[in-house]
Amino acid sequence: MSNFDQVTEAAEWLRGHGCGGADVAVVLGSGLGDFADHLAEPFTIPYGDIPHWPASRVIGHAGKLVGGTLRGKHVLALSGRVHAYEGHDLQTVTFAMRAMGRLGVPQVILTNAAGGISPNCSRGALMVIDDHINLMGNNPLVGPNDERYGLRFPDMTHVYSPRLRAIADAAAAEQGAPLQHGVYVAVLGPSYETPAEIRAFRVLGADAVGMSTAPEAIVARHMGIEVLGISCITNPAAGVFPEPLHHDEVMETARQVKGQFIGLLERIIARL
Ligand code: HPA
Repeated sequence: MSNFDQVTEAAEWLRGHGCGGADVAVVLGSGLGDFADHLAEPFTIPYGDIPHWPASRVIGHAGKLVGGTLRGKHVLALSGRVHAYEGHDLQTVTFAMRAMGRLGVPQVILTNAAGGISPNCSRGALMVIDDHINLMGNNPLVGPNDERYGLRFPDMTHVYSPRLRAIADAAAAEQGAPLQHGVYVAVLGPSYETPAEIRAFRVLGADAVGMSTAPEAIVARHMGIEVLGISCITNPAAGVFPEPLHHDEVMETARQVKGQFIGLLERIIARL
C-alpha cells in the first residue's frame, strides 16, 4: 500500500471519529502534553487505534490525539511525535502531518523544545520560528513525488507563515509576555551538539537548535498547510555555558514554562 493510501485511510478513519472540520492541529513538543487538558468537549484517540499511525518510542511522549474546542475553534492536539533519532525514516516521522493534510486541516502549530544559541534565546524563552536550517541530513520529500500531495520542487521561501507569525506576536502582546523570533536549526540527534557545532550553527545564522519540526514543516508546506512554529528554549545550547546538557533540564524548563506557553497557544488559537 502506498504512503498516500495509508495516509488517506488514517485520515478517513479520523474523519469517522470526529476529527473532520478541524480549524487547526497543534503538535505538542516535549513536556507540553498538558495543553490537551485545556480543550472543551474533549475526546481522546490513542495513536495505536489509528490505522498505520506510527507509535513513538520515547518515554514522556504520550502518544495520543485529543480533539476538542478552544475559544470556539475546533482543535486537534497531537500529543507525542515520532523523531528521526528513534530510527524512523522521515516518511514515518511526517505521517501525522500528511494525515492532517489529507483531513483538510488548513493550519498547524508545531511546538518543540530547543537549545538556545543566540543571546535572545535564554532558558525559558519562547521563540517564533521565522525560518529553519535543515541539517538532519535528509529531507522527507526524498523519493518518488506523489503529485496528489504537492509539487516535486516545492517553494520554501515562506515555510513559516508571516500571517500566523503576526498573530503570535499579537497574542504575546495581549498576554504581556515577551516572544522572541529566530531561526531553528534541525539536527538528527539524539546526542546533543558539541560546542564546536553550536559555534558553527551560530555563524550559519541559527538562534535555536532541536531534533524535530523541520521535516513536519517541509511536508506541511508541500501540502499547502499554513505553518506556525514555536520553540520553548529549554536550555542554553552546548558550550554557551560550561555545564553539560541533560534531558532532565529540558523537561524541567518545559514544565516551568508550560503555563505561559499554553496561555500563548490559547490566545493564538482564539485569533485564527
Ligand atoms: N539541542 C538539541 N535539541 C534540543 C536541545 C538542544 O540543546 N534542547 C532541547 N532539544
